[in-house]
Amino acid sequence: MSMRAIGLFDSGIGGLSILREIRRLLPHEDVLYFADQAHVPYGRRSMRQIRAFSVGITRFLLDRQVKLIVLACNTASAAALHHLRATFPDTPFVGMEPAVKPAAERTITGRIGVLATSATFQGKMYASLLERFAEGKIVLQQTPHGLVERIEKGDLDSLETRAILQQSIAPLLKQNIDALVLACTHYPFVSNLIAEMVGPAVIVIDPADGVARWTERLLEQCELSGPPDHVGSVTFLSTGDVHHLGSMAQRLIGETGERLEFRWDGDQLVSK
Ligand code: DGL
Repeated sequence: MSMRAIGLFDSGIGGLSILREIRRLLPHEDVLYFADQAHVPYGRRSMRQIRAFSVGITRFLLDRQVKLIVLACNTASAAALHHLRATFPDTPFVGMEPAVKPAAERTITGRIGVLATSATFQGKMYASLLERFAEGKIVLQQTPHGLVERIEKGDLDSLETRAILQQSIAPLLKQNIDALVLACTHYPFVSNLIAEMVGPAVIVIDPADGVARWTERLLEQCELSGPPDHVGSVTFLSTGDVHHLGSMAQRLIGETGERLEFRWDGDQLVSK
């Protein structure tokens, strides 16, 4: 049994879609939710920069004695997961990858759409997923430019948000996809809009519950699970406006918790 917390990070509020499933499955675990909102969006940055931020956040979370780290961000996983595992070999990491495999298993038309940030598509991870799991299928990529910024602001259903999504989804529908992978943790917060646009013939795949189940399994394997009778809590940490983060957490997933702000000082995180 371990009373240490799980550390989880994202560039912003996207990781809340993962936190929601972790809290549902593991309500006895404490979680430190770290949002690097000073740097959001990650998706347009270089892989090198995203890797450097991810290392800084990992060191910071390890200083707070977390027992496992969830990269609740596809972009950070694409840029840094491999590097983090090599740099911190004693720390269990749960990363994310676009759910191309389940989509390839479920498609009938043989045509799959993937929505993700530009950085996620650039990584070696994505190329390797296509090679391993999408043989014989047509996989179409789209980046809804500006969508992460709108979701960060809490704008989940304006004309502008709809227009951004429409622009990415229309070409996919034209190509007759029947499975759509949400490969950015921000996107599930507009899943109603997406479902409305693609219609019932397209399966929309959100990997959040799989990430939570994998977290549970890894905790068990490493003998790091928390005591089952403990009432877990969430602490919100941000390099931006933590009160905005806290109110979005309450609005989007009904979660509350202590709020703390930090800032980057070079490659280190310090209290504001
Ligand atoms: N939520 C993130 C992801 O899953 C990153 C969004 C961003 O900062 O661009 O990819």
